[in-house]
Amino acid sequence: MGRAFVYVIIGGGVAAGYAALEFTKKGVSPGELCIISDETVAPYERPALSKGFLLPEAPARLPGFHTCVGANEEKLTPNWYKDHGIELILGTRVESADVRRKTLLTTVGETIAYKFLIIATGARARTLEEIGITGSDAENVCYLRDLADATKLVNMMGKCTGGKAMVIGGGYIGMECAAALVINKIHVSMVFPGTYCMGRLFTPKIASYYEDFYKSKGVNFIKGTALSSFMFNSTRKVTGAFLKDGRYLPVDMVVVGIGACPNTSLFKDQLKFENGGIQVNSRFQSSNTSVYAVGDVASFPVKLFGDTRRLEHVDLARKSAKHAVSAIMEPRNTSDFDYLPFFYSRVFSLSWQFYGDNVGEVIHFGDFSGTKFGGYWVNEGRLVGCFLEGGGNEEYEAIAKAIRLKPVVKDLSKLQRDGVDFVNEV
Ligand code: FDA
Repeated sequence: MGRAFVYVIIGGGVAAGYAALEFTKKGVSPGELCIISDETVAPYERPALSKGFLLPEAPARLPGFHTCVGANEEKLTPNWYKDHGIELILGTRVESADVRRKTLLTTVGETIAYKFLIIATGARARTLEEIGITGSDAENVCYLRDLADATKLVNMMGKCTGGKAMVIGGGYIGMECAAALVINKIHVSMVFPGTYCMGRLFTPKIASYYEDFYKSKGVNFIKGTALSSFMFNSTRKVTGAFLKDGRYLPVDMVVVGIGACPNTSLFKDQLKFENGGIQVNSRFQSSNTSVYAVGDVASFPVKLFGDTRRLEHVDLARKSAKHAVSAIMEPRNTSDFDYLPFFYSRVFSLSWQFYGDNVGEVIHFGDFSGTKFGGYWVNEGRLVGCFLEGGGNEEYEAIAKAIRLKPVVKDLSKLQRDGVDFVNEV
């Protein structure tokens, strides 16, 4: 059993949705494009799962957040794919790939041939078992990567009102889930080995603002230690957690946010890899010229900083997908991808954005006891990164513009004095 398409996308996440829209803009014909996803729903804006989806009142639900609403583009419902003659194969996993023969084999035994392949398989949540702890199978242990995970989390929160949750991990999944748990009236303890939250991006000063804010909402931070093992009841529900520092926490539910791993195993030994991702050029083309990789799995050249990176950010998923489609369909009109790394989060009433690179010396600015503050990163005499909490659209646009120019900074104290206004003079 087999079918053939000109273009095939593996994965039905953020990048797949944005790629589909771009294909139609570039004039794909009905029957030429196929998307294969092991999720049972059409591509959606994944960040909604840790934000609007978890709200107790008026929560976001599909079809409300199908791609590409996150970039104020058309909303691609299942009917949209039908109307455009795009084959959407859902609930189906690609089990193996043969890039030499240009074929894929799905779990239902179908062989799908392609002329051009876009790998958009994203990442999966790292499990407790991968760090030597058992318990992921317990009904009250939740992860958050896809709609099924988010649905389980919502159901579990519904059963635990007034109870105790333990959040394992101090990254953005942990932080956003902790906020959602609080909003759902659940007491939260956050456990992570670092000395402050969001350690890969925040400075200790920035982190302490958010930790204080979370504490004011009742969140208990347990830092510098980690989960050792769970206590289960007779139905294998987790009832408590032993920490490595000897403490014991009684819990009603657990949320695990200990990182993500790119889904690249289908292509092991078939394509070149770098930074744990599929190595691509500035057109998102892999070491096999018929195969492109976008979003979380792509390790791509960041022209601005002269290196190669793999970034798990929604903005990159959207833009890389669009760029790869353009490179495939209009190669002559497609220039090299020139990306400014961008990341954001929204929790409670807070909202921040980060642009560029967080290396070098940090200069904090603004009012850390108020609602607007941030930090600049200066590396080798140039402004390379900026974090701002509580900014407006115009300020974020000005920051992005300034960071792209990597201006020379002669007087570091000016950054602190001028604060966010500094970027307007660049
Ligand atoms: P994505 O994970 O979206 O899609 C991959 C798809 O491939 C999935 O449908 C998966 O099931 C499918 N798949 C994998 N293997 C397959 C196979 N073998 N066969 C068939 N299908 C397969 N970023 C940000 O910048 N700001 C934010 O606030 C957030 N918030 C956020 C919240 C949550 C809960 C998550 C999980 C992630 C974020 N992110 C984020 C990160 C952002 O969502 C992420 O970078 C993009 O979704 C990546 O898009 P991709 O299309 O690459 O993967």
